[in-house]
Amino acid sequence: MAREFSSVGVIGLGTMGAGIAEVLARSGLDVIAVEVDDAGLARGRGHLEHSTERAVARGKLDADGRAALLGRIRGTTSLADLAGVDLVIEAIPESLDLKAEVFAELDRITGPDTILASNTSSLSVTEIGVHTSRPGKVVGLHFFNPAPVLKLIEVVRTVVTEPDVVGDVVALAEKLGKTPVVIGDRAGFIANALLFGYLNHAVTMYEQRYATREDLDAAMRFGCGYPMGPLSLLDLIGLDTAYEILDTMYHQSRNRLHAPAPLLKQMITAGLLGRKSGRGFYTYREPDSPVVV
Ligand code: 3HC
Repeated sequence: MAREFSSVGVIGLGTMGAGIAEVLARSGLDVIAVEVDDAGLARGRGHLEHSTERAVARGKLDADGRAALLGRIRGTTSLADLAGVDLVIEAIPESLDLKAEVFAELDRITGPDTILASNTSSLSVTEIGVHTSRPGKVVGLHFFNPAPVLKLIEVVRTVVTEPDVVGDVVALAEKLGKTPVVIGDRAGFIANALLFGYLNHAVTMYEQRYATREDLDAAMRFGCGYPMGPLSLLDLIGLDTAYEILDTMYHQSRNRLHAPAPLLKQMITAGLLGRKSGRGFYTYREPDSPVVV
């Protein structure tokens, strides 16, 4: 029998954390969402309101359902408020030092049976888990952006993750209406390992002025049926996040496909991070509407 989860902690309410909190609350789970300060909580609340507004506009949620969903998410700036939860999903920035600190703290705060999950896309779940006294209860739960819409969850098991823990989070993913896949702890897991060589190649083609950004994107949308072209998708993912994923995979495998295109680094240095900064390959007046400049 899979374990029943009733309350879940989510740490970090950026794009991914807010999306994960929304998915959990939509399924009737109580969520305690932790941010570093009140400004972070307000930003997270903004993400949640914007996304659930879209869900209502698209007929996926009614106004009462939206109010109930938002009511199930309680914000806090104190990790200590996670003492009683069954599961914690961490979605903070991709720094091993930061995650190690948070997991060590969670290990002290939560009960010994609480499962500690990371939404990391570029770090090793094994390396995160060893900062706790319960690496067998540490697992990766990798959601895809936008989390409320995309069905995949990669469940990452380390060599010491307990099989019951994997079974429990797979059952939870199914309850959330998602499609879980289980993989070992290898950089890029499955989807990013396959996706990012293609995205990187598109940046190189753009860098070499092989084609315009619009034509590169149109080719993959209209020729291959992808919902977004590669440069639009990089803007959605965030160029800094994409760089970290490529760089980690490159260092692990030395596969040239994953050596980050130099243009990516230059754009990041110039502050062009994609939708979240208002400009990446395209310029955005609002988070969802590209404006060509
Ligand atoms: N809750 C529930 N459903 C929602 C919703 C919400 N908050 N917001 C939108 N939806 C639904 C809509 O109702 C619609 O469903 P329908 O097709 O049944 O009507 C569907 O989601 C699409 O929504 P929209 O019509 O608003 O938007 P688009 O059709 O323009 O699609 C998109 C937008 C979902 C972003 C689509 O372009 C897409 O899938 N793009 C590819 C994204 C992708 O590849 N992401 C993966 C990135 S890699 C990653 O995340 C890994 C990480 O480690 C970096």
